[in-house]
Amino acid sequence: MPNLALRPARRMASVGLSEIVRVSEAAAALKAAGRDVISLGTGEPDFPTPPHVIEAAHAAALSGDTKYTATQGTLALRRAIATACQRDNGYTATPGEIIVSTGAKQVIFNAFFATLDEGDEVLIPAPYWTSYSDMVTICGGVAKIIPTSGADGFRLRPAALAAAISPRTRWLLLNSPGNPSGAVLSADDQAALAEVLRAHPQVAVLSDEIYQHICYVPFASFRTVAPDLADRTLIVNGVSKFASMTGWRLGWGIGPAPLIKTMAEVQGQVTSGASSISQAAAIAALLGPQDYIAPRRDAFRKRRELVAKALNATGRLTCPLPDGAFYLYADCSPCFGMTTRGGKQIADDAGFCAELLAQEGVAVVPGRAFGLPGYFRLSYAYDEASLTRASAAIARYCASLT
Ligand SMILES: Cc1ncc(COP(=O)(O)O)c(C=O)c1O
Repeated sequence: MPNLALRPARRMASVGLSEIVRVSEAAAALKAAGRDVISLGTGEPDFPTPPHVIEAAHAAALSGDTKYTATQGTLALRRAIATACQRDNGYTATPGEIIVSTGAKQVIFNAFFATLDEGDEVLIPAPYWTSYSDMVTICGGVAKIIPTSGADGFRLRPAALAAAISPRTRWLLLNSPGNPSGAVLSADDQAALAEVLRAHPQVAVLSDEIYQHICYVPFASFRTVAPDLADRTLIVNGVSKFASMTGWRLGWGIGPAPLIKTMAEVQGQVTSGASSISQAAAIAALLGPQDYIAPRRDAFRKRRELVAKALNATGRLTCPLPDGAFYLYADCSPCFGMTTRGGKQIADDAGFCAELLAQEGVAVVPGRAFGLPGYFRLSYAYDEASLTRASAAIARYCASLT
């Protein structure tokens, strides 16, 4: 007998546990059963939060910085974000144009919740971070997926954008460097997209730049590339990735003051704002020593090369070297139709990943989770020894397919 009192809302019908969580749980279950498992499923740097950031948090807590803050974020942090923006991207933002939230994720949710009416469309180039489309759905919008091609470096091109825009389009979502592909849109790539948008004043841009500092080629912010579109651009960023602060839950949005105000109204009813301690820590992450960022980026770069080389050497996987973030998006479609040692036929990316986990204990996420099947995503934000072992296991698995 279904529990009628607790039935989920209709809007939850197409929202579920993310495939990434599902993979992590399957890996954890195998581990609990005593198997040696290497889980490369999660997008989280393995480095610690820098000590000066932790010290700033400690000092803040001791000094009584433990109360509710302004919903939009402390003035001190919003000023620090503006300073870092000027330093890193060369544009000016005022505190009224900045909102601090419980992770970049909540910034994105606030933006969609604050602006989408039933049936409004959000354009999302695929492959995309799984949460984007689910958040759009929860907020009553329609996620309109624009496929990109691996051969073209998973870049959204102006013609594809122009073809996807309709009178119901409210947002274009950009994510460079991108999760899961690691693709980076150059300033020229973004300028070409901006040119299309100039003819469509009903479309705003949400540019998720959370991997800005994990970029192996010059980074370009959409706000810098198209300053004339600033009145309909929301930049999303945060400390989670560059400062290894995923658990501190601290991100921010930079956009036109009226939009930020509406987003703050949403936030005020949901969380009241980010943690006061995390906000103090984020000031230290933004304005304190920055010298740990480049060595960490170099370490990621080295790991990227190590794993991509191993995957390509299998002769069965194709994996171009991405320009940013810490993911590889490998084409496993040549393995479809092949048979594992255990006699199972691999039908698709989900089958490839399930058998890789079952046979070799390596967890990666099937591309179908990111809206572009035929691939799998591997996070290389793990130590080199694990990556070397995982690469060897993937090679063994591929070689065993007949
Ligand atoms: C593209 C992208 N945006 C946003 C986030 C979420 O960031 P936060 O942990 O600050 O909420 C992630 C996390 O995986 C991500 O990959």
